[in-house]
Amino acid sequence: MDVKEAVMRRRSVRGFLSQPVDPAIVRRVMAAANRAPSGGNVQPWHITAATGAPLAALKRAMAESYGAVEPEPEYAIYPPHLPEPYRSRRFANGEQLYASLGIPRADKAARLRWLGQNYQFFGAPAALFIHTPRFMGPPQWADLGMWMQSVMLLLLEEGLQSCAQECWSRYPGIVRRFLPIPTEHVLFAAIAIGHEDKAAPANALRTDRAPLDEVATFIGFPD
Ligand SMILES: Cc1cc2nc3c(=O)[nH]c(=O)nc-3n(C[C@H](O)[C@H](O)[C@H](O)COP(=O)(O)O)c2cc1C
Repeated sequence: MDVKEAVMRRRSVRGFLSQPVDPAIVRRVMAAANRAPSGGNVQPWHITAATGAPLAALKRAMAESYGAVEPEPEYAIYPPHLPEPYRSRRFANGEQLYASLGIPRADKAARLRWLGQNYQFFGAPAALFIHTPRFMGPPQWADLGMWMQSVMLLLLEEGLQSCAQECWSRYPGIVRRFLPIPTEHVLFAAIAIGHEDKAAPANALRTDRAPLDEVATFIGFPD
């Protein structure tokens, strides 16, 4: 697989088989992703990788807590009044996902039940939690994204799929009951890792992107 193929094929998978993930692959992928660039080579990423009994215990706790326990968000995932064009993009993403799941727009209970699947890692048997010291700022948070995309591309090469999940930043207290993430760190996101369940309806979703000329300005380039 070349880089372009990996970039084009990566997508968020939201339905995994229970088949375990080879721990050697996870380590190999994480070691390679450590080559991700970061400003000043600060490498602000800290990762807690989990599988097996500890992850199962966290999933059980979240099955009980989701909908019953108030979230304690580490940060605001979106700005309070997301303006256009971002608002419409986010809205379309939700619509497309719920359409692929066959959940009607008005069925709020079904939507919430689906959101709860996030906290089961959509069935994935392994997960990475990405955290960084609270004193880090936006440039270092961007570096976390570099690391995450590197992992997600490398996983594809190993025949595994993934889904980045910032939703975990809403329940850091529950996560910390099971995983040793320091309170001095902000829990930025998780990545679900596993073998794709090709029969899962959510995995039929193919997201689109704004055309390049909508997001890029070219100066001095020939037409
Ligand atoms: C940092 C980050 C956090 C995300 N958090 C979630 C999440 O909590 N739950 C979820 O289902 N998808 C999550 N996603 C996946 C995005 O919705 C997805 O990347 C986007 O819709 C584009 O689709 P694609 O990944 O299939 O190309 C996240 C993606 C990123 C990059």
